[in-house]
Amino acid sequence: MSDSSTEQPAPYGSGPAAASAPPTRRVRTHHLREMKQRGEKFTMLTAYEQYAAQTFDEAGIDVLLVGDSASNNVYGNETSLPVTVDELIPLTRAVSRSARRALVVADLPFGSYQASPEQAYLTGVRFMKEAGAHAVKLEGGLPMVPQVRKLTEGGIPVMAHIGFTPQSEHALGGYRVQGRGAAADRVVEEAQALESAGAFAVVMEMVPGDVAGEVTKSVGIPTIGIGAGVDCDGQVLVWQDAFGLRTGRMAKFVKQYADVHGVLLEAAREYAADVKAQTFPGPEHTF
Ligand code: KIV
Repeated sequence: MSDSSTEQPAPYGSGPAAASAPPTRRVRTHHLREMKQRGEKFTMLTAYEQYAAQTFDEAGIDVLLVGDSASNNVYGNETSLPVTVDELIPLTRAVSRSARRALVVADLPFGSYQASPEQAYLTGVRFMKEAGAHAVKLEGGLPMVPQVRKLTEGGIPVMAHIGFTPQSEHALGGYRVQGRGAAADRVVEEAQALESAGAFAVVMEMVPGDVAGEVTKSVGIPTIGIGAGVDCDGQVLVWQDAFGLRTGRMAKFVKQYADVHGVLLEAAREYAADVKAQTFPGPEHTF
C-alpha cells in the first residue's frame, strides 16, 4: 500500500475541543461564589484562540477571559481602545468552542456599552448568541450600575471591573494605582453597588492590597485581582505577560512563569537553518 492511501492525521489541526483532559463539570458563576465561601482561591487567564484556551482549560484554569486586551495582544494596537465587537466575537467563539470546563467571559469593548443600558444589553446578547460566551465583563463603577442591572435582569451574567480600568486610560491620566488614601472608600462603595446591581464577580486592577482585602471582605461576590494583592478571591493575568510571549517592560504585578517568546524564537531559527541547509524535510517527512 502506498503512503498516500494511508490516512494521515489532520494536517492543519483537528478542530476545537481536542484537548486531552477528560470532560469535567462546567465551572458556573455559583461555583466561584461557593469557592469564595470555602476560602478556596480560583484562577482566571486571558485566552484569545483555540490552543491557548484548550491548554489553560486542561490545566484547570477556572475562568477564561477573552479580554479586550486582545487589542494589544492579538491585533497589534497600543491600547485596548480600538478593538471592536466584530473583532472580539470570532476570538470569543474560538475560545468558547475550545474550553470544555472553564467559564468563558467576554469583555465588552470600549464604546459598546457605556452609552446606555440598552446598548450594553444588545452588545451582551451578541457575545452570548454569536460567540457562545457564558458571561460578559465591563469596566466602570457607579456609572455602570444601570448597565449591570439591565444585563443581569436580561439573563446575562456580568463580571464588573473597577480600580484601574484600561479603557479609561486617558481619563485616568495613564496607568496609575487607584483607590489610595481617601479614594479607598469609593472602591468599596463601587464594589457593593455593582454587587447590588447583580454582578457575579468583580475584577480589581491596580488597587492597593489592603484596600482590595477590605473590598473582598465587604462583598459576597468573588473579587478577582490583577495588581490587587493576595487577599482577592481569585487572580487574573494576561497570558502573554505571564508566560513570556510578550517581551519588554512588564507591570510590577506580573510574575513571569515561562519564556514562550524564547522557545518560539529558538524553534523558528532552527527551522530556518534546517530549510536553508536542506536538512528539513528529511526522508521521514517525505511521502
Ligand atoms: O482585557 C483584559 O485582559 C482584562 C484583564 C486585564 C482583567 O480586562
